Amino acid sequence: MLLENAKWITYPKYHDETICPVFRRKFTLNKPVKSATLRITSLGCYVAELGSRRVGDFIFAPGWTFYKRVQLQEYDVTELISAENELRVTLGAGWFKGRINERNRTELKDTHPAIICELELVYLDGEISYIRTDEEWETSLSKITMSDFYDGEHYDATASESFGPVCVQDCSFVEIVRQQGEKVIEQQKIRAHRIFTTPKGETVIDFNQNLTGYFEIELDAKAGERVSLSFAEVLDKDGNLYTENYRSAKAEFEYICADGHQTHKPRLAFWGFRYIRVNSFPDTLTLDSIRAIVIHSQMKRTGYLNSSSKLLNKLFSNIIWGQRGNFLDIPTDCPQRDERLGWTGDAQVFVRTASYNYDVERFFEKWLADLWLEQQREGLIPFVVPQVHEKPGSSTAAWSDASTVCPWQIYLTYGNKSILRKQFKSMCTYVDEIGKITKKKDLWYGCWHFGDWLGLDAPAGSYVGSTSLDIIGTAFYAHSTSLVVKAGKVLGRNVSKYEALYKRILKRARETFTEYKTQTECVLALYFDLTDNKKAVANQLANMLKANGKRLQTGFVGTPYLLHALSQNGYTELAYDILLQENYPSWLYSVKQGATTVWEHWDGINDKGEFWSKDMNSFNHYAYGSVADWVYGVACGIQTIEEKPGFEQVLIAPNPTKRLDWLSAKIETRHGEVSSAWYKEGDGFRYEITTPVKATVIIEGKSHTLEAGSYVF
Ligand code: BGC
Repeated sequence: MLLENAKWITYPKYHDETICPVFRRKFTLNKPVKSATLRITSLGCYVAELGSRRVGDFIFAPGWTFYKRVQLQEYDVTELISAENELRVTLGAGWFKGRINERNRTELKDTHPAIICELELVYLDGEISYIRTDEEWETSLSKITMSDFYDGEHYDATASESFGPVCVQDCSFVEIVRQQGEKVIEQQKIRAHRIFTTPKGETVIDFNQNLTGYFEIELDAKAGERVSLSFAEVLDKDGNLYTENYRSAKAEFEYICADGHQTHKPRLAFWGFRYIRVNSFPDTLTLDSIRAIVIHSQMKRTGYLNSSSKLLNKLFSNIIWGQRGNFLDIPTDCPQRDERLGWTGDAQVFVRTASYNYDVERFFEKWLADLWLEQQREGLIPFVVPQVHEKPGSSTAAWSDASTVCPWQIYLTYGNKSILRKQFKSMCTYVDEIGKITKKKDLWYGCWHFGDWLGLDAPAGSYVGSTSLDIIGTAFYAHSTSLVVKAGKVLGRNVSKYEALYKRILKRARETFTEYKTQTECVLALYFDLTDNKKAVANQLANMLKANGKRLQTGFVGTPYLLHALSQNGYTELAYDILLQENYPSWLYSVKQGATTVWEHWDGINDKGEFWSKDMNSFNHYAYGSVADWVYGVACGIQTIEEKPGFEQVLIAPNPTKRLDWLSAKIETRHGEVSSAWYKEGDGFRYEITTPVKATVIIEGKSHTLEAGSYVF
C-alpha cells in the first residue's frame, strides 16, 4: 500500500469549501543528505513548497480521478533541502469539492479536502528517515482567501497565518495509486496584444487568443491596494465584455497587494478567456503588467495541417487551441462556464482528431480507467467522467460510446493492445446494457438520448436536433457492437455472440428505418451501414445539403461523420463545399467572425453580432473540431490500417480539390513521420508523400505498394 505509514490530515474547522488551508512541518537536519524524495497526494488540489520554492511543476496535482482513487506524485527534492527546512502544502478544493463537484456535496459531505505525504531522506551515511503527515503537523488558513474552479481566486498578500493543530481524517475509502495520466503544466506565456477602453469606459486587455489557464501580474503597489480582474471570451456587438455565457461561474480574481514591487499568479484556479477586464489596478497598466499563462496536460504535438487557404489554416489553429484548452487532466467540454466536465460524448467525437494532433495515449488511458470505475459503480456510463452529476437513468447513445470508440481509436493510432485489454470488459458491459434497456430487441429503441445535440434542425426553444433518437441509438448500438467484435478479435476472445448481434442489429435496423428525414439520419445510415441502399441515401443527403445552400444542419452526433459519409459515397467535392463554406452555418463562418477556438454552437455569434444563447454558448468547445480527422484521413488521405495499427503500415489515399492550391498533413507516428501533401499543378496535381514504413499509396485510383521513403507523383 502506498504511503501506508502516513496519515491523512485536514484543517479542523472546515466551515466553507472555498477556504485554502496551508499545512506545515518544520524540521532541522544535522547531517548531510544524499537524496530527498517527496511522495504526496491529496483530496483537493495541492501546491507543495520546500524552503519557499515550489515542488515540481504539476499544476492542480494530483489531477482529477474517480473519487475513490487518487494519484500519487513523487518528486526529487534533494536540491530544495537545507539545514533548516519548512515543508508547506497549500490545499484548495480543486475538483474534489466546491461547486464543480455536486456528488461530493452529498456523498462526501463530511469528508474534507486533505493531504497525505511522506518525505524520504537518505543521508550520506546510509541512514534513511521519514517525515510523514501526522499530528505533528500544523495548519493555518493561507493567503488564498477564496478558491473555487468556477468562481476564481482571492489572495490577500497582507493576510497573516496563524497555525494550530491539524485533524487526522479517516479516508480509508480512498485508494492511492501511482500517477497514471499526464501532468498538467504551464505551457506558454502570452504577452498582452492590446489594451483598450470599451464603449462602457472599461479597461480591457486583449490577448488575441481564447485560451485556458491563468496569468501573472507584475506591479508596484502599497500594502492593501487591490487588483481586481474579470474575464471573457468575446466582446458583444458594441465592443463591451460579454460574460453571460459563463453562466453561474463567477470567474473572479481579487488580489490584495503587499508593499513594493511584486509579481503574483493564481495557484488554485483557472479561467477560459481571451479578454481580461481590469476593474482595479493600482499601478500604471502596460502591456507587460499582465501576461497570460496557458496550461494543459503534457502532450507531445504530433499532427500538423497546413494549406493555401488562410481561413482553413485559422480553423486548423482553432482546433489545436480547442484541444489545448480542454485537455486539462481529463477531456473537458469547455474551460470557462460552470461545467468544465469530462463529457463523454465530446471526447467520443473528438478522439481521432485528438490522437493525431497530439500523443494522448496516457491521457486517455487514465480517463478510460476512470470511466470503467464509474461504469462499475453506477451500472451505466455516466454523462461525465469523473461522475459529478445525479445518476442518469441509463447510458446514452453517442455519449456512452466513448467507452468503445475511445479505446479502439487509441489502439488504432498507437498500436498498443493494452488499452483494449484494460477496457474490453467495459466495452462488452456497455453493449450488454443496451440489450437490457432497449424496448425493441436488436435495436436501441424507445429510450431517451441527448440526441443530435445542438443540431440546427431543432424545434424552436430546444437544444436537440430533429433526428430520431431511435436511429441514433441503433446506429451507435451497431457501431459499438462492431468495435467489441474487432477488439475481441485483437485480444483473441470468442466474440461470436457479438458478431451475431451485430448482424441482427443491421438487419433489424434496415427493416425498421426505411426513410431518413434529416441530414444526420442520412449521415448515420451511411456511416454506420444502417442502409443497404447507400446510393439513394447519399443522393438524398446531397440533395438536402444542396437545397440548404450547401450548408449543414447537423449537431454533435451528425457533424463528425458528415464529410466522411459524403466522401465515402462519391460526394467528395460536396464535402469540400461544406468544409470551405464561409456562410453560416459552417466551420469557416466562425473563423470569419474572428474565432480563435472552436465554438460550441454554429451560431455562437450570428451575423448581426448577436449571441445565440447564454446557456449553451461556449466559444471553446472542441467537439466540432473533429472535422480535422477528415482533413488528415481523407483530404490528405493518411489512414491507419486495422491489421497493422499504430501506423506500423500506412494507407495514404489523398483526395485533392482544385479549389485549394495545396494542402498538407503530417503525423509523427510511433514509427516515424508520415506526410502527405498535394499541390495544384496545371490541369492536375503533384503529390508529395513520405512514409517511414511500408505503405499502400493510392493516387487518383492507382494503387502503389511502397517501402519507407519519400515519393513524388
Ligand atoms: C456540454 C456538452 C455536452 C452536453 C450534453 C453540455 O452542457 O457542454 O458539450 O456534451 O451538455 O448534451
